[in-house]
Amino acid sequence: MFQSLNRLNEDAILGVMARYRADPSPLKVDLGVGVFRDANGDTPVLDCVRRAERAVIDAQTTKAYVAPAGRAEFNELVAGLVLGPAHPALLDRRTVAVQAPGGCGALRVGAELIRTASRAASVHVSDPTWGNHVPLLGSSGFELRRYPYYDATAHRLTFDAMIDHLERAPAGDVVLIHACCHNPTGADLDAAQWDAVLEVLHRRRLVPFLDLAYQGFGGDLEADAAAVRLVAGGVPECLIAVSFSKNLGLYRERVGALLAVCENEERAAAVKSHVLQVARSIYSMPPDHGAAIAALILADADLRRTWLGELSAMRDRIRDMRALLARHLRQLRGDDAFGFLERQRGMFSLLGAPPDAVERLRVEHHVYMTADSRMNLAGVLPGNAAYLAGAICRVMS
Ligand code: LMR
Repeated sequence: MFQSLNRLNEDAILGVMARYRADPSPLKVDLGVGVFRDANGDTPVLDCVRRAERAVIDAQTTKAYVAPAGRAEFNELVAGLVLGPAHPALLDRRTVAVQAPGGCGALRVGAELIRTASRAASVHVSDPTWGNHVPLLGSSGFELRRYPYYDATAHRLTFDAMIDHLERAPAGDVVLIHACCHNPTGADLDAAQWDAVLEVLHRRRLVPFLDLAYQGFGGDLEADAAAVRLVAGGVPECLIAVSFSKNLGLYRERVGALLAVCENEERAAAVKSHVLQVARSIYSMPPDHGAAIAALILADADLRRTWLGELSAMRDRIRDMRALLARHLRQLRGDDAFGFLERQRGMFSLLGAPPDAVERLRVEHHVYMTADSRMNLAGVLPGNAAYLAGAICRVMS
């Protein structure tokens, strides 16, 4: 049977991770997979997580199943964190919140839900978008279309072209939008642009699917949820995929949630039944450990305070490294060609290097990034920023 299977190309992001690990050079710089790194290049367990984890283990009396929806208290807390506790969609009880195995699990369950609800719907993703959006959503069988989002040469949004595209999308289609800290560009819509997008989504009866994987990495938790709250209040229906991989550093524990805002309470009950059926048919129930930790941190005032401090330290570090790298590049080049690094937000920016320059960075300088020249700015360290800037200048004259 398996003779029919040809070997696939490696995943664009995970392939870089593997090559970086295999490189013995002490000079190597990891700008690949999206994990936070501290000033030593480590990805530490947050203090709030360590404390919550101990409490979870001490209090645990059973490993019996929880439920396909995961923990009820986690779901409630996540809905409040994302939408704000007084959001009309919550007060009207027309929001469904279901724990999922990471943001990926939430995206995939959302995709299956869309497929169940509408065979005709296409999903529109930004060009460019996170590499895994395409297999995650495309595997559900619908057509994926791309809306123009960013010009990697000019380092700016192609907003007018995005709006033009949405104006022509058929009613009932789904539009996946990064809620903050766009991956891979670091370029987000501003408040006026979100208003304009919302107006088109509403008028054209398009269904937004918001991917919120970096809440707290651009601004604080509230600021980074503003677009989600705006959109969820301005359309009858939307989906939101939430991840705690980055903002709680719970990458390997797979903690996320799918939220669905529905027209009314009755519709929400129907949607929830389908979400649970999808979950049951793919993985049955989400892993519990990370969600138990996240729920405790969200519920406990002291742990939450610790988390907010740690989150803002992560955010500040990435912002500082953006500024440091831009400064070194400015000094070496004598121009501001890379000033956009400082203006963009979150973990990623596109360097704007062609694939052969990315390859030279790897082979000649041990600098690792994906072939589209996406850089994880958390991989820039006080100790490697000057070296990195020099390497970039050598391959991009
Ligand atoms: C990334 O974009 O690098 C992360 O979200 C990790 C992943 O799974 O791709």
